[in-house]
Amino acid sequence: MAAALLPLLLCTPLLSFAHDLRGPPPSPFHRRSNVPPQGFFNPTDTGGNMLTQVPVTFPAGLGEPLNVIISAFSDSDVLKDQETDGGLRNYFLSFGYASECLGQHLGDDQAANLGDGQGYLNETAVIRWDYGDPQLGSCKETIQGGAHFRFWVQNGEKADSGAIFVAASYEKPIADQHDIIYNGYNLGRDWMIGNATNQTSLIPTLNVTNQTTYSGRTSYGNYTYQTDVQYISGLLQNGSDGVNHYLTVAGNGINAVDGLVALMNVKIVERPASTSGAGHLPAPSIWLLSALVALTCPLFLSL
Ligand SMILES: *[C@@H]1O[C@H](CO)[C@@H](O)[C@H](O)[C@H]1NC(C)=O
Ligand SMILES: *[C@@H]1O[C@H](CO)[C@@H](O)[C@H](O)[C@H]1NC(C)=O
Ligand SMILES: *[C@@H]1O[C@H](CO)[C@@H](O)[C@H](O)[C@H]1NC(C)=O
Ligand SMILES: *[C@@H]1O[C@H](CO)[C@@H](O)[C@H](O)[C@H]1NC(C)=O
Ligand SMILES: *[C@@H]1O[C@H](CO)[C@@H](O)[C@H](O)[C@H]1NC(C)=O
Ligand SMILES: *[C@@H]1O[C@H](CO)[C@@H](O)[C@H](O)[C@H]1NC(C)=O
Ligand SMILES: *[C@@H]1O[C@H](CO)[C@@H](O)[C@H](O)[C@H]1NC(C)=O
Repeated sequence: MAAALLPLLLCTPLLSFAHDLRGPPPSPFHRRSNVPPQGFFNPTDTGGNMLTQVPVTFPAGLGEPLNVIISAFSDSDVLKDQETDGGLRNYFLSFGYASECLGQHLGDDQAANLGDGQGYLNETAVIRWDYGDPQLGSCKETIQGGAHFRFWVQNGEKADSGAIFVAASYEKPIADQHDIIYNGYNLGRDWMIGNATNQTSLIPTLNVTNQTTYSGRTSYGNYTYQTDVQYISGLLQNGSDGVNHYLTVAGNGINAVDGLVALMNVKIVERPASTSGAGHLPAPSIWLLSALVALTCPLFLSL
């Protein structure tokens, strides 16, 4: 009995692992009309909230700020949640952030209401700093902590912009229950923006104001992205009310949230000569792995 189960146990996770690395299928995004000139609908105009809901907080009901928005006027390929064809996941890789460790989802989901008529929905995904290793670096982030973000797409009928709303922060190691570091929401936003605009020095978080701009280029899989960022105020409070971990994140004159949202406009400025299969990072390892699984598992299972 045990001997018969062993190969099954060995093969099942391998199969799902191989499947997960391929990423989600492309979603059916389409060109939107009526998107406001700012590149998104303000969620609070239609019953949404710029704070997420975190499942278990003390006191209850705290949330994290949606402090980055990828504008609906970004390249339509960038707004597709896929790694192929220069899509969103390839864009994230271009500035050092990768999908979760081995396709495994760890930790509690957060929910956000983007005012698009869908109510509160769990995040689409959690994306982590990859420590220079696109394939396994996000595993290190999960354990050691670091920069990460969650994202949601504003695509419900009531506010169908296609803009992507991001909650960025910087967390402590797993051993510290992944608390957020001091000033970790504002810093998490600015380290994401600093990397996405290819800055050579840190963005001075305390000096950033309404209308500050940054621009730069990053590339991955032979796609090059031009990212233009403008900080905007008026969407988030400059304060700590209702913000998760406010006791440790704020203090000494720093509010948990400084009230600024980084609005990103992303364009693809270079593409690979031939797009077939390009930009799909783990393709060779996937085929190897799949072949290995395909070859060895039936062998095992028939034993
Ligand atoms: C959303 O996340 C929560 C907490 O992780 C989970 O209990 C719930 O089932 C999720 N909801 C959906 C619709 O996936
Ligand atoms: C890029 O992100 C890493 C990880 O959070 C951070 O250490 C680094 O300072 C960031 N770079 C910039 C220019 O912000
Ligand atoms: C931030 O602002 C302070 C005071 O205005 C200034 O002295 C400092 O040079 C600024 N830092 C950066 C990195 O811009
Ligand atoms: C937020 O408010 C604090 C005072 O509570 C102030 O020092 C800071 O400049 C404000 N930040 C922005 C971005 O307006
Ligand atoms: C990012 O910045 C570095 C250093 O300034 C530069 O060498 C590199 O070419 C830039 N990347 C892109 C894609 O432009
Ligand atoms: C990127 O372009 C280089 C040179 O044109 C080519 O050798 C390489 O295979 C390409 N890589 C991808 C991932 O398309
Ligand atoms: C931010 O700057 C813009 C452009 O100057 C201005 O229209 C807007 O009122 C400013 N927002 C706040 C909250 O000061």
